[in-house]
Amino acid sequence: MIETQNISLQYGKRILFDEVNIKFTGDNCYGIIGANGAGKSTFLKILSGEIDPNSGLVNIEPGKRMAVLSQNHYEFDEFNVLDTVIKGHSVLWKIMKEKDAIYAKEDFSEADGLKASELEGEFAEMDGWNAESDAAALLSGLGIVEADHYRSMTEISGNQKVRVLLAQALFGNPDILILDEPTNDLDVKTISWLEDFLLDFRNTVIVVSHDRHFLDTVCTNIVDIDFSKLTTFSGNYSF
Ligand SMILES: Nc1ncnc2c1ncn2[C@@H]1O[C@H](COP(=O)(O)OP(=O)(O)O)[C@@H](O)[C@H]1O
Ligand SMILES: [Mg+2]
Repeated sequence: MIETQNISLQYGKRILFDEVNIKFTGDNCYGIIGANGAGKSTFLKILSGEIDPNSGLVNIEPGKRMAVLSQNHYEFDEFNVLDTVIKGHSVLWKIMKEKDAIYAKEDFSEADGLKASELEGEFAEMDGWNAESDAAALLSGLGIVEADHYRSMTEISGNQKVRVLLAQALFGNPDILILDEPTNDLDVKTISWLEDFLLDFRNTVIVVSHDRHFLDTVCTNIVDIDFSKLTTFSGNYSF
C-alpha cells in the first residue's frame, strides 16, 4: 500500500496538485492518464520520493519495497547489464557485495565466518541463489540476448538500455512498481511480453502511459490527472 495525504505542489503560478489524497493498494494496476504537462511524471516522482511536494505526505506500508523505472540512462554506466538488473533490489545487491568482500579476504577470521553465515542466511531468504537466473530471464524476455548480459552498460545502445532499466524495475518482485512510459522504445512483441508480465504480477503497479491499448490490457483502475486533482475510475472505465 502506498498513499498520499494532502499533497500539494505548485511551480510558479501553476498549481499542479491541490490537496491530493489517493491510495494505491493490493494487486491492482493503476494507469495514470492526463494531458501533456498535467503532472503525470511529477506525480510519480513525488510517490518515489525524488521530488518533495510543497506540502503533504507519502506513506508506504512499512517493510514494503518500491521499484521505479529509472529515467537516467547513464546512472549504471560503471556496471554490466546483469548487475544493473540485480541492483534493482538494492538490499540483495548490498548483501552480495558484502559476501564477496568477506570471501575475498586473505585473513578470514572467526568473526568473518560468523558474518558470512549471517549474510548467507539473508541471501537465501531473499532467493539470492536465483537472482542471476531471474535477472537473465527478465532480460531475455525483454529482448536482450545472453551474449549481451555481461557487457558494460556503456557498450549497449540506447534502446537496449531502456530494456535493461525496465528489467531492473521488474526484478525481485517489488511490492510497489512505478513505471513512467514503459512501452516507449519497445517493439510490439516486447510490449506484449510486458503486458503478460504485468497481468501475472501480484503486487501494486502504478504506470503512466499514453498507450491506451496497453493500459486497457493491464490496468484494473485508471487515475485521471486534471485541474490539480486526481480522479480514480475502476472496472468499466472508458476513455
Ligand atoms: N522542476 C520544474 N520546475 C518548473 N516546472 C516544472 C518542473 N517540472 C515540471 N514542470 C512543469 O510541470 C508540468 C507537469 O510536468 P510533467 O509532470 O512532466 O507532465 P506530464 O508527465 O503529465 O506530461 C509541466 O507544465 C512542466 O513544464
Ligand atoms: Mg511525463
